[in-house]
Amino acid sequence: MSDISQNTLVLLKPDAVQRKLCGDIIQRFERKGLLLSALKLLQLTPEMAAGHYAEHKGKPFYPALIEYITSGPVVAMVLTGSNAVKIVRTMMGATNPVDALPGTIRGDYATVMSCNIIHGSDSADSAAREIAIYFTEQEIVQYHLEDCYE
Ligand code: TYD
Ligand code: MG
Repeated sequence: MSDISQNTLVLLKPDAVQRKLCGDIIQRFERKGLLLSALKLLQLTPEMAAGHYAEHKGKPFYPALIEYITSGPVVAMVLTGSNAVKIVRTMMGATNPVDALPGTIRGDYATVMSCNIIHGSDSADSAAREIAIYFTEQEIVQYHLEDCYE
């Protein structure tokens, strides 16, 4: 696996905002060593949600997924670092919280798949597509840490 820096898109889903878990989850990523490159709170329109979850259109859980993801504000962020896509997926834990190990975000905070707290891109290609749904190029700030903070 390459050590070249990657961007990935993370969404803290409506239940994370309602349960006031956003600070805790962002802190996990900061402590891991990923950089925040963009961050905003917003409420998804049905159109944005359909674009985000296009791959799941037609599946039995799709209507409930769109209703849930548009039900309240979410926090969207771009995280940057070596292998950021895979690292975020590992830290999230399995899609079904029943299978998510303790110590992962879903393992620690979720019990049901329909309210599983967090989204993270599943590949570099998905990340590029998803980031463009939430952020303009100007909103993504790529920077390096000062020597004393590395
Ligand atoms: P998916 O992309 O498969 O999972 P992940 O979020 O881990 O990338 O599915 C998107 C979301 O759809 C998932 O987070 C929760 C929901 N979902 C269900 O409600 N039921 C299901 O059977 C699946 C597969 C997903
Ligand atoms: Mg997915």
